[in-house]
Amino acid sequence: MIEIEGVSFAYRTGEADAVPALRELELRIGAGQLVAIIGHNGSGKSTLVKLLTAVLHPLEGEIRIDGIPVREENQWEIRERVAVVFQDPDDQLIMNRVADDVAFGPENLGLAREEIERRVAFALGALGLEGISGTLIEDLSPGEKQRVAIAGALAMQPHFLILDEPTSLLPAPVAVRLISTIKDLNRREGMGVLHVTHSMSEAVLFDRVVVLDEGRLVMDGAPAEVFRRVDELREIGLDVPLAASLAHRLRSRGVPVEGDILDLADLRAALTKAPRRRTRL
Ligand SMILES: Nc1ncnc2c1ncn2[C@@H]1O[C@H](COP(=O)(O)OP(=O)(O)OP(=O)(O)O)[C@@H](O)[C@H]1O
Ligand SMILES: [Mg+2]
Repeated sequence: MIEIEGVSFAYRTGEADAVPALRELELRIGAGQLVAIIGHNGSGKSTLVKLLTAVLHPLEGEIRIDGIPVREENQWEIRERVAVVFQDPDDQLIMNRVADDVAFGPENLGLAREEIERRVAFALGALGLEGISGTLIEDLSPGEKQRVAIAGALAMQPHFLILDEPTSLLPAPVAVRLISTIKDLNRREGMGVLHVTHSMSEAVLFDRVVVLDEGRLVMDGAPAEVFRRVDELREIGLDVPLAASLAHRLRSRGVPVEGDILDLADLRAALTKAPRRRTRL
């Protein structure tokens, strides 16, 4: 369980006023939940990720993970439970070669050699990196580096995996595979996931969508609930998935599109049920 209670944070920027980045955030995420976090640029998503992993510390409020307060003195206990992949993979790759980097985390947990090898093989396979396990990190593309960073996080077998826009550097088929690997691990191992994304088509694949705006939590619910609020989302600079937007437009023209519309299959099904009548879009 992740508990965020009354958390505020501001960046101190020398002489200028502090920049508020999170304001009185309240959020509880149960073990094994699949949560997408969305919000436009500067809404506080990365700041939240850094607070959850004790890279930054709240000015007010408290964060606990599995009951342990996220503080400097507990950082090792926290890092055993929570693995994070930051936006820029260059910030977190440590070793020279791919397989060594993926093994780095499990080695620091003091696991047996066979267990480390098992986890590294699994994580490399999950991200399609088997073929480049011996390659030097410096020779990789940004997308490959991102995959190595994600493999390193998976190899920790954390209770919670936190990903800050992991798919922004990935080609679409790799991004799709990553999400299905994550969901698979969630089903099999009960691993909770917090997935920060700008992609609404990814967000609909999660159980819960949390929306931040200017450091505040403004929406929190199942994708179908959140993506019904089309006008409010647009007001805070967010789009909605294509099918949800089409359904909204049809409803506003009086077409009775019933039920939750998250993808084109939902829309097609709803339209075959709607009474036939010519509609101009
Ligand atoms: N190192 C920093 N120093 C000063 N201000 C910062 C720093 N990092 C972030 N901020 C400010 O804090 C606020 C929240 O930023 P944050 O990076 O958490 O947003 P974000 O939602 O991750 O945005 P993006 O979608 O662009 O990654 C913004 O106003 C940002 O300008
Ligand atoms: Mg960010």
